[in-house]
Amino acid sequence: MLKRRHLLVATAGAALAGVRPLFAGSPRALGAPAEPKEGNTVTVRLTAAERPTALPCFAGASLPLWTFAEGAWPPVIRLSLGDRLAATLENRLSRDGETISIHWHGIRLPNDQDGVPYLIQAPVAPGGDFFYHFTPPDTGTYWFHTHCDTAEQLGRGLEGVLIIDGDTTEPYDGDVVLVLRDWRVEPGTAEFAPFTTVRGAGRAGTYGPLRTVNGAVNPEIPLPARGDCRLRLLNTDPTRIMQIGIAGTEAAIVAVDGVATQPFPLKQWYLGPGMRIDVIARGPAAGKLARLTDASGDTHVDLARFRGVPVASGRKPRAASFDPAPLRAGRMPAPDLKAATRVLFRFGATDAGAALGALEENFGAALGTLCVTSRNFWTINGKPWPDRDHARLPAPLATLTRGQSYVFTFVNETDFLHPIHMHGHSFTFLRASKLKRPPHHTDTLLLLPREEADVAFVADNPGDWMMHCHVIEHQENGMMGFARVA
Ligand code: C2O
Ligand code: CU
Repeated sequence: MLKRRHLLVATAGAALAGVRPLFAGSPRALGAPAEPKEGNTVTVRLTAAERPTALPCFAGASLPLWTFAEGAWPPVIRLSLGDRLAATLENRLSRDGETISIHWHGIRLPNDQDGVPYLIQAPVAPGGDFFYHFTPPDTGTYWFHTHCDTAEQLGRGLEGVLIIDGDTTEPYDGDVVLVLRDWRVEPGTAEFAPFTTVRGAGRAGTYGPLRTVNGAVNPEIPLPARGDCRLRLLNTDPTRIMQIGIAGTEAAIVAVDGVATQPFPLKQWYLGPGMRIDVIARGPAAGKLARLTDASGDTHVDLARFRGVPVASGRKPRAASFDPAPLRAGRMPAPDLKAATRVLFRFGATDAGAALGALEENFGAALGTLCVTSRNFWTINGKPWPDRDHARLPAPLATLTRGQSYVFTFVNETDFLHPIHMHGHSFTFLRASKLKRPPHHTDTLLLLPREEADVAFVADNPGDWMMHCHVIEHQENGMMGFARVA
């Protein structure tokens, strides 16, 4: 562990100096943090099972999805700040040995509820149950997903959305959840393609050809005309790193990974697996369209269309100038940058991974000459996680002192992008060497190729917390570890 103190003030200052005034007039301050009230207990039953499902994107066919609940996919659990979630997970998958668990991504919950098999809990075998119960300490947009055999289980749909209300300073004119992900279904077939490939695992991941929003290809989503509508965008894809934009209307990001940020215009935002943004978009005029786009590939893809629909008379019209209301500030403690301890994490490739990464032409032929038996392609601080599953636990990557402030320096030593997620905490973004970003919090920081970035946080949540790339094939082929807060 590198310990360098007193280095960080300049870094934080530089990050702040990059911020321009974003909308005409002075920026509106974030609201005061929401105070949790003693709430209700929200009881849910999440029964993982194979359910043949005809999502709109499957064009009439039913595919063997694995889901957490009957009915609409994905399930959405909605709480108010202060509510307690009591969730019974039942594994009713019929495949022998197909264990599951639920990780509540981004929630700063007690460690024993974090849902990581072996590290935290026994994986839940078919026929078994597990009871999760916690009170989320923060408002915002979160999600939950299995943490076992994730490429396939998430690939088949084992996920859901978790929203904790109570963060608005004034009402918006709408609130829409948009789950962005692909399905591994070749066009014209009604079957899943393999969820992982050697090529994908050793490179940017195995993409799904069917690009969807809420299970539909380029759906038309009604928005209140000329209203300020909240869009909760979640990239829950196992693989794809998107570059999200909205064309044809004004839009601003008001929260990143659940936590409020000073509103800033959405131009293009890298949204990797696990990452979320809350966007306020001005509804197009009645009958007019705007587009949600992904610019990550060679050609821009339209992910969805927003159509302005007339709203009930009597609603106060929005001012012509777009100046969306900010959310309430997050409740996480501010790290003490002067006293912070710095820890370095290097995200790299094994020799086999590096060789795969370098292959461009003739991939199949070249593959035969490479030894890829172990499938350990990716590393953190020079070491791959010992196996695909979590059963063999390595030593922690770092041991942190509870209550102490830390600056993590993430260095991407590869030519690929990696969204780096840490469980149970929320980082304050400080700086990155390539991509400028306004101040924000994040639980999943995207690293561009060869990029170096600093994030800070208070290690206030005791336990063993996974740190891994959220490109699931990178995670499951080595780029995974954990930090201990003791
Ligand atoms: Cu959503 Cu361990 O991750
Ligand atoms: Cu990665």
